Amino acid sequence: MTQPNNLSAFLSRHARPYDPASDTYRRPPFAAPVKATKATPIYNAHSYHTKVPPEGIVPYILHYTDPGDLILDPFCGSGMTGVAAMMCAHPPAEALRLVPGARSGPRYAVLNDLSPAAVHIAYNYCTPVDVDAFKAEFARIQEAVKEEDESHVVPEEYRRVRKIVEVCRLKISDSHTETQSHRRKTI
Ligand SMILES: C[S@@+](CC[C@H](N)C(=O)[O-])C[C@H]1O[C@@H](n2cnc3c(N)ncnc32)[C@H](O)[C@@H]1O
Repeated sequence: MTQPNNLSAFLSRHARPYDPASDTYRRPPFAAPVKATKATPIYNAHSYHTKVPPEGIVPYILHYTDPGDLILDPFCGSGMTGVAAMMCAHPPAEALRLVPGARSGPRYAVLNDLSPAAVHIAYNYCTPVDVDAFKAEFARIQEAVKEEDESHVVPEEYRRVRKIVEVCRLKISDSHTETQSHRRKTI
């Protein structure tokens, strides 16, 4: 469960109070056609109904925000807005083509969902992992299921971990996202 002081601390680091007297924020509506495939390791690392490919969210974030801005997704589902906010550090070429003048750089995100399952998935998508420890665990599981793998009876757990290793190759090294739910479980 996220402790309230975690969220407070995150907000105090990244939120800027709105001041109508000094606000100069202006963005025309973003109207470019956005296409994104679901055939990516990130998208397929964990399923979720109504999941949106993060590559389809990045152009909107690049257009409407600046690096370091804070984004709220109160209905985050599997957390693809948080993944997209992190991807803005090195946006896909297609997103940069769609958003002339886009400023690369990570944005921060607060993710919330009513569903503990959604928050569990979002939290684990957006929380950095120790890539070396993860690879070592993958090697351990790979060894443990070697016989089944060689006989092509590959357990579901093994296939899922193999996909997640692909995601970890992105080497997300810093936390830019805070997730919260009334009943979030941490693994
Ligand atoms: C369309 S899905 C979001 C999917 C997300 N874009 C993704 O990529 O995974 C909408 C989410 O809203 C959540 N939801 C519905 N009512 C809610 C509420 N009152 N408060 C918070 N979350 C809610 C649902 O649990 C669901 O995960």
